[in-house]
Amino acid sequence: MAVEKKSSRGAKGPPPKGKAKSSSKSSSQSSGSGTLIAVAVLGVLVAGVVYAHQAGHLNSYVEALQQGSAPSQKSPIDAVKDEIKNADAEFQQAETEKDAKTPPTKDAASKPAKKVNPEEDKAADDKKKQEGDAAKKAKKQKKPVRILQASIGAKEADYEIRQEIRAADRLHTKKKYQEALTEFRRLLKGNPKCIRCKYGEGAALHELADKQRSNKLVQEAIAAYKETCTWSGGRRSVRVAGCLAMSGRMSFMGQSRQSVKLLDTVLADLSEDVKILEEIGLQCLISAMNKKAKSALTRLLELDPENGFGLGHLGFVYKLELRYEEAVPLMFAGLRGNDDRSREPRFYYHLGDALQRLNRSDEAYEVYSQGADSGNFNSMYQRSTYNAPNLKAQPWWTPEETPYAADIKRIEKHWKTIRDEGLAVMNLNQGGFDKEEENLRKEGDWGQFTLFQQGHVLEDNCRKVPKTCKIMKSIKDAAGCKRGQVKYSVMQPGTVVWPHCGPTNCRLRFHLGLVVPDDVHIRCGNDTRTWYEGKTIVFDDSFEHEVWHHGKSFRMVFIMDFWHPDLTQRQKEELSPI
Ligand code: LMR
Ligand code: MN
Repeated sequence: MAVEKKSSRGAKGPPPKGKAKSSSKSSSQSSGSGTLIAVAVLGVLVAGVVYAHQAGHLNSYVEALQQGSAPSQKSPIDAVKDEIKNADAEFQQAETEKDAKTPPTKDAASKPAKKVNPEEDKAADDKKKQEGDAAKKAKKQKKPVRILQASIGAKEADYEIRQEIRAADRLHTKKKYQEALTEFRRLLKGNPKCIRCKYGEGAALHELADKQRSNKLVQEAIAAYKETCTWSGGRRSVRVAGCLAMSGRMSFMGQSRQSVKLLDTVLADLSEDVKILEEIGLQCLISAMNKKAKSALTRLLELDPENGFGLGHLGFVYKLELRYEEAVPLMFAGLRGNDDRSREPRFYYHLGDALQRLNRSDEAYEVYSQGADSGNFNSMYQRSTYNAPNLKAQPWWTPEETPYAADIKRIEKHWKTIRDEGLAVMNLNQGGFDKEEENLRKEGDWGQFTLFQQGHVLEDNCRKVPKTCKIMKSIKDAAGCKRGQVKYSVMQPGTVVWPHCGPTNCRLRFHLGLVVPDDVHIRCGNDTRTWYEGKTIVFDDSFEHEVWHHGKSFRMVFIMDFWHPDLTQRQKEELSPI
């Protein structure tokens, strides 16, 4: 089936040695990336799989641009562009209803003067029709006139200066953000109740922040959006747009938790708003508040059972809880649904992963295949999601195929020193080895002792293995690899690691064998290999790989992530850490 057809490595079948097909499951790749970024951004240690992250500093702009997905693809002004039109329609309707009660006066100030230009006439007709439709729709929803009038009363400030708002919007649309900002601020001075002007101010600041890559301007945008969000008496839809924009920017700045708090406490009257519930669900997931995410998403689906965002994301929460049976149908529904956010790469990844863990591998590979076809993965077997474009991609490498062969020779020369220092740490009563906590193990015991992470040295650990760290510190493409680690990895007999993919294609993973019993195996892509003491093997861990240890005593390897050789110096400097 699709599996074989699309495979870049042939059948994905189980590795030799009788590893059951059922054991084919992959653990979350966000294990690698999500966790670390979440840690970096939130300063909160989150074990296991987390949803995601958007780092809020310069790097994420750079990365987003590199990956062709700038954080704000949609102009923030788009979110409210119908507002004035809707306000017009509602105003007209209220006027009509008023007119029905009061005889028309000569002073029809609210009626536009008759146009002479036929084009304008047509535009006016179209507009009228739209307004008529909107009015009909409003009527159909049986909005009580009382409320309608009250809300128009509150938004008079917007309505009265609608032409000026439109003009300022046009500046924004033409990307004249500074001018738009000045104009909205001028309008606000004369019309302090104009919520749309406050939103416009936020939107202009938001774009300026992107353009100038300025965190200070992002903060100012957040402040303006927050005012919009909490505006007293403003149009509800503009308030919601303000809340969402505020939350989006806060999330971008790594402030998801604070955003949830704000949305929670400030918004008594919007707490059942579908868009707000989506946002709360999303930000909770980003900040690993899974229980709270679940309740927001559950409520969302009660209000809107077909909500594609809610379906996919609630499925994702179940996946995080390892409740695969419940996760799968929801995530499938999310992929089919009406919201692209439930079709992001991690949804393909985790749906497939859940299916593999349920021993439904064929379906998993259908999902992976769709994920690759839709551009979410480089291939169905290379499912990293933080990728730089155009890097050579193959599961296995030799040191000689990389520029690091001389470094590896030098490291191998000292392999016994590296081994002995690692063993000494192990003998310190598990001293410093961290248990694998990313839910990658099917069974067994697997610990790691990390020396470098995200390009930083972990000095406390390095003090315990000084000679090893000294060697590694001189090797910048490993010690400074911001998308990887340098670490000892010890697996006890009986350990089985689910098939999984690393988070990024930007590194190659070098394993130096230190203590290697019989009957330990690693499969990457379609090839299964083992380790040899004092020798280094190289694989690209963005390709599906798995490990199983059927031997009799522990296995120790030294893992070194090196930057992918095709990356430029600039990329190495600018890629966000993982
Ligand atoms: C992995 O990176 O998944 C494993 O290869 C690590 C290990 O210790 O074998
Ligand atoms: Mn791995």
